[in-house]
Parts: sequence; C-alpha cells; structure tokens
Amino acid sequence: MKLAVIGTGYVGLVTGTCFAEVGHTVICVDCDARKVEMLQKGGIPIYEPGLEELVQKNVAAGRLGFTTSTRDGVENADVVFIAVPTPPQPDGSVDLSFMEGVARDIAAVMTSYKIVVDKSTVPVKTGEKVAETIRRYCKAKVEFDVVSNPEFLREGSAVSDFLKPDRVVIGVRTQRPVAAMKELYAPFNAPVVVTDINSAELIKHAANSFLALKISYINAISVICEASGANVQEVASGIGMDARIGRQFFDASLGFGGSCFPKDLSAFVKIAEQLGYDFGLLKEVQRINALQMDRFFKKILETVWVLKDKKIGVLGLAFKQNTDDVRMSPAIDLCHRLLKEGALLRVHDPKAMDKARTVLPPSGVTYIDDMNEVAEGCDALVVATEWNQFKSLDLDRVRKAMTHPILFDGRNLFDPREMEQLGFIYKSIGR
Ligand code: UDX
Repeated sequence: MKLAVIGTGYVGLVTGTCFAEVGHTVICVDCDARKVEMLQKGGIPIYEPGLEELVQKNVAAGRLGFTTSTRDGVENADVVFIAVPTPPQPDGSVDLSFMEGVARDIAAVMTSYKIVVDKSTVPVKTGEKVAETIRRYCKAKVEFDVVSNPEFLREGSAVSDFLKPDRVVIGVRTQRPVAAMKELYAPFNAPVVVTDINSAELIKHAANSFLALKISYINAISVICEASGANVQEVASGIGMDARIGRQFFDASLGFGGSCFPKDLSAFVKIAEQLGYDFGLLKEVQRINALQMDRFFKKILETVWVLKDKKIGVLGLAFKQNTDDVRMSPAIDLCHRLLKEGALLRVHDPKAMDKARTVLPPSGVTYIDDMNEVAEGCDALVVATEWNQFKSLDLDRVRKAMTHPILFDGRNLFDPREMEQLGFIYKSIGR
C-alpha cells in the first residue's frame, strides 16, 4: 500500500521504515528541512539499533522517501500516519498544537478518500478532535476516516518491537477503514485488536502507566528489602515466576525516566482529573519514583559526606541502555544534583554523550571516551544507566585508579559479595 508518515522522530521514522521493510511504499514528511536532507543522504538523526541499515536499504529499494511537503506525501497515499510530538505541559496536560497543525495541513491537501491514522500518544478523545478539524479545514469535501493506532515501541528496541508486536491496536468510528488497516499490518502476523477510538487511545496510556506502576512497585519493595536485609532481585524473581505477574519491568533502579513514562503518567493523571477521577494510585507511582532518586542521592551524600570539589565518576547518561536519548534521564538528574553540591564530574556514555552535552553545564563535567578511564582519580563512581557493557568494567583497574574504592550502583549491575571481596565500599538498590 502507499503510505505517508508525518513526523520523522523516534516513532515516525521507525514506523515509516518498518512499513517500507515489509513491502509498502512510504513517504515520510517532516517540517525540519535539515532533518529531511540528512535522511535523504542516508543519515539518521537518532540512535536506534538496526534503524540506519533499514533506512538505507529501503531508500535504495525505492520504497522509502523523505520530503518537507505534506502535499507530496499525502496526495498519493491510501493511509496517512500522524506521528508528531505531543509534548507535556508544565501542568501535566499535553500540548496538541502539532497534532492540530498537521490535521489542518492534511485537510488542506486532501482530494480523495484517506485513512488518517493517529500514531502519536494522545489523551483520550483526541481522535474526535482530529476528525472535527479535518472536516472543518478540508476544502474539497472528500470522505475520510480517522483511526487511532497507538505505538508500543521501547527506545533501544523500537525496530524489533515494531516488526514483532505483541498486538496491533486499531481504534475506529466505523468499520470502513478496518480492512485496509488489517491489510497494512498483515505482514507482521500479529493479533489485531479492533475497538473504538477512545478505547484505543486509553489502551496506550493505561499500558504505559501500568508498566511504570510495576517499576515503582518493585522500587518500593527495594526499600523494604534494604530495611530487612532481603535481596530485591531475588524477591522480584520469586514474584515474577508467577505467570500472572511476569519478571519483566521488575528491575529495581534509581527510578524510571525517558520521554514516555513520566509524560504519559502526568498526562493520564490530568486526563483522569478532567474526567472527574482522582487517580491517586498513579500519583503514588510518581511519588515513589521521585523518592527512589532522593534515596539513592542520599546514599551518596551519607557515604562520601562532603561532595564539594570531590571527583565523582558517572557511568551512563542516557535514560536507559541502547539509546542516545537523555530526555528525563535519571542519570542527568543525578549529574545536576552532584554538580549542585560542587562535585567535579567525569562522565561516560556509549551513545548519549553528544546529547548530554546539550543539557549539562559547560564547566564541571569532563567527558571520557573509555569507560575504564572514568574512575581515574575519583573519590566515588556511580552507575546510573543499565548499559550491559558496564558489567565488563575492569574493576581491578578501577579500584586502583580511585582515591577511595566507593561504587554506587543505581542499576544493580554488580554482585554485592564480589564487590566487597574486591575491596569496594559498594552500595546498590534493595540488596
Ligand atoms: C516505554 C514503554 O516501555 C513503551 O512500550 C512505550 O511505547 C514507550 O514508553 P521507553 O520509555 O522507551 O518505552 O523505555 P522503557 O524500556 O519502558 O524504560 C523506561 C524507563 O524505565 C527507563 O528509564 C528504564 O531504565 C526504566 N526501567 C525499565 C526500570 O527502572 N526498571 C525496569 O525494570 C525497566
């Protein structure tokens, strides 16, 4: 089928590329001419494992193209995906101005029947507003259908999540677009849930909030584990072996971050409030998450005592492993807290150092390319992101390089007994 994808960010670029990979013809539209030019030359504006090769392969095969013109994208498309940002507002509500702008752009160039699919994460009842806007701004009175098709992509595994989805959720007002949407997703051989638009929009927020709840639950358990001498990883495994609970998203940490969980949680609390429900449970999920970072930072303060002019190594800057994204990153939050106390930082991240530079102050931070060099002359070392490669840190070299062998492990990458045998003062989460 012929598709247009409007917005080539983390979601849009993966969506367009993966649809091209399974044989559809895709034009990705973006208002950022520099980004479009980079993509046309085979460059990728984001780090996502496996994406660069897929983009280049499908551009070469003539199935994938990039343009700044909505008209060029929409006019020959059967299905038009909206994948533009829906950024959070300070009060937790969602900024839908990009959505509304794209709905108007599509309406202005539509001359034949289109299926307009909302892929962006939006508050429930947004689909209705998109349909209203298109009706209002559509010059040629052409028919169209609006569909909600939320994404469940995790950064760092977005390509595999798209190509092998647990399920495809389709929200429709009438049955007319269902056959085309099923044809579109047929190559993925995944179960398809067809429901109304509002339910489809709620599935997204409800799913993400539940995942965040799972993390905050195990983080709350980690506090009780520390107070009772239990091991949160063993408790998580013991719980997670119950098929109804599952072991995933049960890794205690210094808190979750990223551009989704914090934003979707505050949006969902706000949406519930606007619908007349006080979502206390999710407010507690947010509170536990904030407390987890406070507790971790307190461990550092209590152990190191004075942080002013101390050299602290920080391993990890991205909000999670396998991504370069530092939006709402716990690691970046931790760096700001350390800098505020006057600490001097030596930092490393396999992928996120360039993006970290744009959010960390120009002084007080030294960026180190080799993870084994970060500890040089440090009074303490912190693991802030769960990059697998940190597990193969040269701990002997690290211990010798530090003024004091103190390591704070915010992601439980190391084993407490081994670290003590190596002579470290080792603090982690829930063990
Ligand atoms: C999330 C959802 O997983 C995805 O389905 C949705 O489409 C977008 O939001 P993402 O934010 O990319 O994906 O990353 P995710 O893997 O969910 O991790 C979010 C945060 O939780 C990260 O900071 C991660 O380090 C943290 N985390 C994750 C934990 O602290 N413990 C865990 O067990 C899992």
